[in-house]
Amino acid sequence: MAEHSYDYDVLVIGAGPGGYVAAIRAAQLGLKTACVESRETLGGTCLNVGCIPSKALLHGSELFDEASNGHFATWGIDAKPTLDLGRMMDEKTKAVGELTGGIEFLFKKNKVTWIKGHAAFEDAHSVKVGDETVTAKDIVIATGSSVTPLPGVDVDNAGGRIVDSTGALDLTEVPDHLVVIGGGVIGLELGSVWRRLGAKVTVVEFLDQLLPGMDGEVRKESQKLFKKQGMEMMLSHKVTGAKVKGKKVALTVEKSAGGDEQTLEVSHVLVSIGRRPNTDGLALDKAGLQVNNRGQVEIDHDFRTGVDGIWAIGDVAPGPMLAHKAEDEGIAVAENIAGLTGIVNHDVIPSVVYTLPEIAGVGLTQEEAIEKAGGDKKAIKVGKFPMMANSRAKANRDTDGFVKVIADAETDRVIGVWMINSLAGTMIAQAAQAMEFGATSEDIAYTCHAHPTHAEAFKEAAMAVTGKPIHM
Ligand code: FAD
Ligand code: NAI
Repeated sequence: MAEHSYDYDVLVIGAGPGGYVAAIRAAQLGLKTACVESRETLGGTCLNVGCIPSKALLHGSELFDEASNGHFATWGIDAKPTLDLGRMMDEKTKAVGELTGGIEFLFKKNKVTWIKGHAAFEDAHSVKVGDETVTAKDIVIATGSSVTPLPGVDVDNAGGRIVDSTGALDLTEVPDHLVVIGGGVIGLELGSVWRRLGAKVTVVEFLDQLLPGMDGEVRKESQKLFKKQGMEMMLSHKVTGAKVKGKKVALTVEKSAGGDEQTLEVSHVLVSIGRRPNTDGLALDKAGLQVNNRGQVEIDHDFRTGVDGIWAIGDVAPGPMLAHKAEDEGIAVAENIAGLTGIVNHDVIPSVVYTLPEIAGVGLTQEEAIEKAGGDKKAIKVGKFPMMANSRAKANRDTDGFVKVIADAETDRVIGVWMINSLAGTMIAQAAQAMEFGATSEDIAYTCHAHPTHAEAFKEAAMAVTGKPIHM
């Protein structure tokens, strides 16, 4: 019987970190591959309006803050910096352009065809892009996510008063008073950017603590640190409406449980209450697919959907909405399509908040670990080491935060690591690698760490699991 003939072996929908990585790996494995992307440039949310521009502005604003309020004066350097916001934005745009252009180069180098336009399924092996129908043996859905809207608070990025993360990365003036709705990752990162550049920032968070999903002690400590930095917190509060009046926004805020309504008059509002999967206009039904009650495309362990030949990865599929999770899934799905064994260990996906200090974690939180042990607190051992006792942090006058190692009490195997410190985002990679190799706290404690480094705090926290840190 003749083999069915398709235009491509693999068609990837979406060129974010999930999709572009899947496409490149599929091509590297010898499969004829195309990637459909509706944006003008490759790289998805992450490169265009997410990870990269936010980190560029976090870096630029950190330099400004260090010079105006931070460490410069501590070290006897008197500086009175002035801000040219336009130039800061230009530098961010340059970084984004270099990186998105880099993906275009990688597509050419690996012979991935970029099909420009919006893809919608016609059936399980074909999608329509503009007037063209493209067929493929395997199709990977990597359409990512977009901002969750908040009823009563209409985002208008062009107007520049009520914005989402995309608008907040492109403001043309420093807000007098920015209200951030949602004390999650975006709110704290972008809130920090604008606070450092001179805005008064108020965080309105529905829950009684910031950063849901992170370890309890880390959440508590971050709240203290952000407050110390000058962010105002309205925890257990929600915004019920917002109206733009000229250069002001009138916000109605009340307690999460209801009542105590008040009106805030501010200059800018950032809506950052989460993201939701992108499946609108994809015509999943024509391929025989449905979304679950969270709007995600369900997959099995190998990233297969319920329909043969269709796979899904990244933000559109269940799991944390993180670029590195999407990338790893991109590699694994391509390997599975090629008949190899692609695996992602979803128990070891680090997460990082790129504020100063940085906040990072991998594996179980202390609360999750206890819950998993049926509430038995003795089933785990916890070692904690404060940055205050770390020599490098002390020398740098940079002593906020701690490192915490959570290990199984019986086997000593490390099941979670959480930290707050200026280099946490980089240090968490060591924890992830140790956990991937099944390390015990003793393995980490007996690994030689260079002195003086912040990373020694990780070693000491591991030593503290058995109650024997040296410098505490
Ligand atoms: P996306 O990056 O969203 O890419 C999907 C692409 O598919 C998009 O370009 C979209 O245009 C395209 N598309 C959608 N539907 C179609 C269609 N039907 N046809 C054609 N194309 C389509 N994560 C981190 O790990 N670290 C960070 O520091 C970080 N910072 C962030 C900062 C901000 C402000 C935001 C908003 C997000 C941040 N994230 C970060 C999250 C990260 O951006 C996402 O987890 C990641 O981009 C998900 O990758 P993805 O490939 O699944 O989807
Ligand atoms: P988030 O889920 O991190 O935080 C949203 C916050 O808003 C939560 O604390 C939630 O309790 C609160 N909230 C929800 N509804 C509310 C309401 N009506 N009023 C007040 N508060 C409300 O979502 P966020 O910050 O929008 O980010 C989306 C996702 O993007 C993140 O979850 C993460 O996956 C990804 N991201 C990752 C980054 C990183 O890795 N450094 C940086 C930025 C985004």
